[in-house]
Amino acid sequence: MIMKKTLIRSTGRYLPPRLVTNQDLMQWMDTTDEWIRQRTGVEQRYWVPEEGEVGAADLGLEASKIALDRAGWTAEDLDLIIFATLSPDIFFPGSGCLLQHKLGLETTPALDIRQQCTGFLYGLATADAYIKSGYANRVLFVGSEVHSTGLDISTKGRDVAVIFGDGAGALCLEGSGTDSEAGVLAASLHSQGRYADALIAEAPASRLNPRITHEMLDQGRHYPVMDGRNVFRLAVTHLPEVTYATLEKAGLNIDDIDLIIPHQANIRINQGFQKALKIPEEKMYHNIQRYGNTTAGSIPIALDEALEKGIIGPSSTVLFAGLGAGVTWGALIYRFPENKISR
Ligand code: UT7
Repeated sequence: MIMKKTLIRSTGRYLPPRLVTNQDLMQWMDTTDEWIRQRTGVEQRYWVPEEGEVGAADLGLEASKIALDRAGWTAEDLDLIIFATLSPDIFFPGSGCLLQHKLGLETTPALDIRQQCTGFLYGLATADAYIKSGYANRVLFVGSEVHSTGLDISTKGRDVAVIFGDGAGALCLEGSGTDSEAGVLAASLHSQGRYADALIAEAPASRLNPRITHEMLDQGRHYPVMDGRNVFRLAVTHLPEVTYATLEKAGLNIDDIDLIIPHQANIRINQGFQKALKIPEEKMYHNIQRYGNTTAGSIPIALDEALEKGIIGPSSTVLFAGLGAGVTWGALIYRFPENKISR
């Protein structure tokens, strides 16, 4: 019996229309375009409009419609929705359920993944497991974030606020009985809750009663805070390590990888990652300049772009990797089949 392979049938991305440049941020906080570019690589990002209610499921819906259309699927073809976000539209229920309804579906199952910057890695590994177990054959994965409504854009929050952008990426995934060496070849996932405080938005919180108070709001305790240096150090240590471990699982070496699509947290992290792997610059994909860090959206958005640019295509072997809040980190190797994918 041929084991099913999880194949990416199509991809899509959606960025909201409000362009926010580094110069724009300079109006609200004590920062400079030079500092942001040099320390993070970010030049601009897209945020949801100030007016109106636009949540992660809304951005996810737009990216999903594009991916579904390119796959030639309707929403009714889906067996499962996996939605990765750290910025759910509401406290509960999950954004996956909200997206399921926005897609016009009645009872299709939807699952939320709260793994922050590794939401894509955990999501794709989960989809692969569901497909291989036979539970689902057509899965929609969505990674989507609306950070902008939850950032402290005063000088106090500048280390975090300058990095993050809003955006969504979506993938249509399908189980295939192919005997070709395509699909998810290997994945490694990790978490270390010991470092939960290194990047945290502590409220509203079920462990607090009430979950949030006016005083907490005044103190800004609903905003994310980050020990940036520590997260940076963990990323440059774990990313090469988990890459080699995943290559070994797949029986590959680094020269077999055509492109690395890392999570886009800081261009300096990915440059350090590239140097540690001793790979040429063109094998490491960057787009943080244009979008900032879109967390669960970052890898699927970058994948959609890399396919659009033709940097990867049929038979390409791609390694995805990332580290973020949790902390969580991981890597996943995917090989495209020989036939063209409908992105
Ligand atoms: O995707 C989620 C995972 N997150 C990450 O991977 C983020 C990892 N960390 C980072 O990317 C970096 O640590 C940051 C970009 C967050 C900060 O860069 P850094 O080079 O580590 O700066 P720092 O925190 O050590 O701060 C250096 C200085 C400080 O001033 P003093 O104390 O030296 O006077 C900060 O107050 O830079 C100051 N600073 C800023 N200055 C201008 C911090 N943020 C800003 C800012 N504009 N936006």
